[in-house]
Amino acid sequence: MLSKKILVTGAAGFIGYHLCENLIAEGHEVVGLDNINDYYDVNLKYSRIAQLGIEKESIYENNITTSHLHKSFRFIKCNLENKNAIGDLFESEQFDMVCNLAAQAGVRYSIENPSAYIESNIVGFLNILEACRNYDVRKLVYASSSSVYGNNTKIPFSVDDNVDHPISLYAATKKSNELMAHTYSHLFGIETIGLRFFTVYGPWGRPDMAMFLFTDAILNEKPIKVFNNGNLSRDFTYIDDIVKGVSQVLNRSIKADLARIYNIGNSRPVQLLDFISATEKSTGKTAEKIYLPMQAGDVEKTWADVSALQKDYGYESETDVENGIANFVSWYKCYYDIT
Ligand SMILES: NC(=O)c1ccc[n+]([C@@H]2O[C@H](COP(=O)([O-])OP(=O)(O)OC[C@H]3O[C@@H](n4cnc5c(N)ncnc54)[C@H](O)[C@@H]3O)[C@@H](O)[C@H]2O)c1
Repeated sequence: MLSKKILVTGAAGFIGYHLCENLIAEGHEVVGLDNINDYYDVNLKYSRIAQLGIEKESIYENNITTSHLHKSFRFIKCNLENKNAIGDLFESEQFDMVCNLAAQAGVRYSIENPSAYIESNIVGFLNILEACRNYDVRKLVYASSSSVYGNNTKIPFSVDDNVDHPISLYAATKKSNELMAHTYSHLFGIETIGLRFFTVYGPWGRPDMAMFLFTDAILNEKPIKVFNNGNLSRDFTYIDDIVKGVSQVLNRSIKADLARIYNIGNSRPVQLLDFISATEKSTGKTAEKIYLPMQAGDVEKTWADVSALQKDYGYESETDVENGIANFVSWYKCYYDIT
């Protein structure tokens, strides 16, 4: 495999951190970028990049720091909205490829904080597209989301399904990214590949997501909130399977349309109550459940049809939820020092 120089945005985030670790191991030269915002515990973000050899004390805004563990990894604390800083970075680094994972994530938060989504996901993404255009980056892989399917009733969700009916601003920004990327492929010949991630979970996961919230509550003997009275199902996808798929897309060149969209998921949806039972089994404790109605902006089910990614890149997901949850619970206990 040829070594490439790759920018990964959102590198202190859950998926970005794991992806950087994988790309470094594959022999690529990686620059990680993140603004380390406080949407959730910043200590978790600093701890992730410390695993990659970047210590909090060595980080200065808009300055690149080299890892003390991997000479092929460097990190920059930078805001996607800072157009000049992004332009300067692209000009000095001349990246071969970009993987844009930085975004304001979360469906529920977008109802109360819409501006954060427009700034990071729309203005920030435009700055990435413009920098790719101006500094001749030929390949951009970026995070989209299963949330673009809204309340799609046809299952599994296929990339050929209509996605004109998002039910949260978060979903609308992700769908907008797909349209913006298509335009830049068409106008400037940049290969853009949008990956619609389906509920990613695993070690170093996000504190605002179900896996983390359930484990935290169950281990600390607090009640868990079960929305839509448990009548929800999700295509929970283990982080290693996501990283493997993103890496396949970055590493392989295929002959196809310049602007492409793929689902990336486990393709085996799990009922929320079964997910909770598996978490109880792994923690060895019983959850106290508070049954609540559906939350605004949330969807009842997700299920990825991954046939396009299988066909073009040979993608297969391997981790079942029992093993994935057990890995998460072990990481959680170790990280938070729970015996
Ligand atoms: N985790 C999932 O289940 C899931 C599902 C669908 C889509 N996604 C998408 O995948 C991507 C990664 O998600 P994640 O779960 O790792 O989330 P995350 O919040 O852990 O990571 C995103 C990172 O981006 C950084 N960031 C946000 N706005 C920024 C900005 N304006 N400038 C620079 N950095 C910024 C944050 O500090 C954070 O560390 C996101 O685009 C998200 O929308 C995730």
